[in-house]
Amino acid sequence: MDQKTIKYIDEVEIKNKTILLRVDFNVSLNPNHLTIADDARIRQSMPTIQYLLQSENHNKLVLVSHLGRPKGERLSKFSLHVVCDRLESYLNSNFKVRLIDNFLTESDNTFIDQKEHEVFLLENIRFYPQEEKNDATFSKQLAAIADVYVNDGFAVSHRNHASVVGVTEYLPSYGGLLLKREIQMIEKAMHKPEKPLVAIIGGAKISTKIDVLSKLVNVANYLIVGGGVANTLLHAQGINIGDSLAERDALKLGQKLLFQAAQHDTTVILPSDVVIGDPDELEHGGMVIKLEDMPPYGRILDIGPETKARIGNIIAKAKTIVWNGPLGYFENIHYRQGTDFMYYAITNNTDATSIVGGGDTLAAISKKEYLDKITHISTGGGAMLEFIEKGSLPGIDALKR
Ligand code: 3PG
Repeated sequence: MDQKTIKYIDEVEIKNKTILLRVDFNVSLNPNHLTIADDARIRQSMPTIQYLLQSENHNKLVLVSHLGRPKGERLSKFSLHVVCDRLESYLNSNFKVRLIDNFLTESDNTFIDQKEHEVFLLENIRFYPQEEKNDATFSKQLAAIADVYVNDGFAVSHRNHASVVGVTEYLPSYGGLLLKREIQMIEKAMHKPEKPLVAIIGGAKISTKIDVLSKLVNVANYLIVGGGVANTLLHAQGINIGDSLAERDALKLGQKLLFQAAQHDTTVILPSDVVIGDPDELEHGGMVIKLEDMPPYGRILDIGPETKARIGNIIAKAKTIVWNGPLGYFENIHYRQGTDFMYYAITNNTDATSIVGGGDTLAAISKKEYLDKITHISTGGGAMLEFIEKGSLPGIDALKR
């Protein structure tokens, strides 16, 4: 048997078992922390949950997730309470979801006593400091709840944490259906892409994206860059970016990347015109300028129309598209147009395989009516980038043992 292959839940028989299912319900919340802003991560895990709950299999399910970064403290604003009702609304009507406040102090019988049509959700696993330390005792305690472990949390699989990695030492471990789809779709796009392959990287910081950018310049035909990442690359080319957000100490990184791209015949598309303005001014939009007209105080907040036209042409001809990160300061509605444009350009090209990832990428889009035209919406932000860069993740490797 090949030790290095993941077994997915639809390739094995799991019956009469208590299953510990790691999901990523780290959903974005509204500012009051009481309601969910976007529940895509819950919806995308439903096929796995429903598959495992098929009545003829008589399985019991204990779900594990984190929410936010409470750093080992029990903070009510990070309680998974908010997720319980939403999850219940997606289950068959006779199912109830019970939040287990502290699985370490629950009486031993609780899990055995799980009633039919009841699903357990452990309270935020990052309330326990042992989780992020991948503590062995804690991993064992988690494993003791169940007979089988399933990882469906692709979005957290880049973390070397107890509920992602440690627990697999102590239980037969399998991949869930969402994990399977994420791996297959991203691998297909990166290893056997139909060309031209166009990668689009936005977001604020080049330092968090440099590794994936270095990988993408090896494989993509076009690398379109926006946001603060583009500002840093423009600056690295000696172009005046005024007072724009950029990592001015990352000049060398930027130069190296541009050199690498030239060696691989990858065309890097940077903005030639931009929208400048005040990020905090909500009433009026900004001003379109050519980069050569950048005033010393100018702050780049979005790409301009000429840049959009160039990008539009490239996207229209693409056969594979990978997109991560907004292209402008989307928090202010006046500077969303570049990101919205990218979304429409991608969803218009129905010939291409398109993969879009990162919570902030989709949060940045004003209207989401064509989401079904995207081939695969990855639940992963950091995980998707790390998977593209390294070809695996700690949580995925752990399943291959
Ligand atoms: C994410 O939102 O990218 C995942 O849930 C991982 O969260 P983290 O970056 O806090 O580990």
